[in-house]
Amino acid sequence: MATLELLIYPNEKLRKICPPVTQFGPELAQLADDMHEIMKRFQGCGLAATQVGRDERLFILDLSDDFSAPEVYINPKITQSAGKMLWNEACLSFPYVWAKTELKGQITMEYQDLDGNPYVIECSEADSALRCAALQHESAHLDGILYIDALSKLKRDRLLQKMEKSLRIYGRRSA
Ligand code: NI
Repeated sequence: MATLELLIYPNEKLRKICPPVTQFGPELAQLADDMHEIMKRFQGCGLAATQVGRDERLFILDLSDDFSAPEVYINPKITQSAGKMLWNEACLSFPYVWAKTELKGQITMEYQDLDGNPYVIECSEADSALRCAALQHESAHLDGILYIDALSKLKRDRLLQKMEKSLRIYGRRSA
């Protein structure tokens, strides 16, 4: 059972820069499992370690309809990027809100799996816009970067006001 808690902005732990993972083993796999549990509870498609108060350089994705396809990315590094795509970006640490942002339209990312094996993934808007956006969004989390950082102050203030108001009215909803 997951004992992790989903952190909501402006929790300062969301700004932590995660050091690379050097120890691969069952504890890391357990963390990824626990994070998947939390992501399922809040119906997200990506979750980074900083969002549950941890500082392992690790994030997970699950782009399936029924949370049956967890993917774990450790020590991700975007080594190449090109082009642009517009995306409606949202984040479990910002309940009830989203914003239109500009992301790279194509990326190459190196990462490791739970056993430390190295991989390279290439992804573009044409392959899967969701995956391309999620890889960029979750990688940024591990450097303490949040999607609201790219918004103008006016847009950011409006978004945060809307989030706070919705949280007051509806509280924190989970599935
Ligand atoms: Ni996020």
